[in-house]
Amino acid sequence: MTDDLMHADVAQIARRPAGAEESARASRVWWEREADDYQAEHGGFLGDTGFVWGPEGLDEAAAHLLGDPAELVGARVLEVGCGAGQCGRWLRARGVAEVVGIDVSARQLQHSLRIDDATGRALAVAQADAQRLPFADGSFDLVCSAYGAFPFVPDAPAALREAARVLRPGGRLVFSVTHPIRWCFPDDPTEGGLTARDSYFDRRAYVEEDARGRAVYVEHHHTIGDWVAAIVGAGLRLTGLVEPEWPEDNEQVWGGWSPLRGRILPGTAVFLSERNEGAAA
Ligand SMILES: C[S@@+](CC[C@H](N)C(=O)[O-])C[C@H]1O[C@@H](n2cnc3c(N)ncnc32)[C@H](O)[C@@H]1O
Repeated sequence: MTDDLMHADVAQIARRPAGAEESARASRVWWEREADDYQAEHGGFLGDTGFVWGPEGLDEAAAHLLGDPAELVGARVLEVGCGAGQCGRWLRARGVAEVVGIDVSARQLQHSLRIDDATGRALAVAQADAQRLPFADGSFDLVCSAYGAFPFVPDAPAALREAARVLRPGGRLVFSVTHPIRWCFPDDPTEGGLTARDSYFDRRAYVEEDARGRAVYVEHHHTIGDWVAAIVGAGLRLTGLVEPEWPEDNEQVWGGWSPLRGRILPGTAVFLSERNEGAAA
């Protein structure tokens, strides 16, 4: 990547609007820079062929949010914002023949290739933006995403319409994001992160900027109601909303997620949905 943003330092933090292009560029820059550290720090928890929905460690092997594993075998699956492809590789290891992962960051995908070599389980991946998926209408039976892409896009309705577009009628979209209630609290894993500070209804993005005001990291907030409206508006039917509880045996601190906060506040929301049978492709 030649973009000089790759070498820009964070000079200030802002709450402000950030559009689709700016958000995708910031995500690419941030994940290109941080992918090595992220995989070194969290790769063990994620597992090379593991599928966890978030820092609580809710494991698809036990949760079955994607449905009956036996029925997935013949499915065509897209993992959005796949990072190093751990979830997609888990599906491949369960016998799902057609799994594709997309991610905006080439470095994350290089980690996917590294893990392919180490495990002998290859996942097909492509560098792409979740806001413009390079697939034909109705190409997949299932689209899934564990914290991939959806927390980082400004226009949730458009991103969900794009995910729904590539699903066949009756196909499912299951994705996890930071639980929207977390936006009220400082991103602090200690007691300091237990006192509400910001409005739940403030939709301005969280933006880390360089000295010239250019975004180098962006996260977007959508309330629970926003997500539900986006799901319904995309021609999907909401079939479930899972708020994983923090398990007793999970001692890890992951950014603002910690056992202390996890016992009190939800940290992750997993939305389960299905494309309406009658929806136009
Ligand atoms: C928190 S990681 C989650 C990846 C993986 N599921 C995991 O648990 O490690 C978020 C991923 O989303 C990707 N991402 C962010 N914005 C994206 C976008 N607009 N399109 C595609 N991928 C995006 C990032 O590059 C990153 O790899």
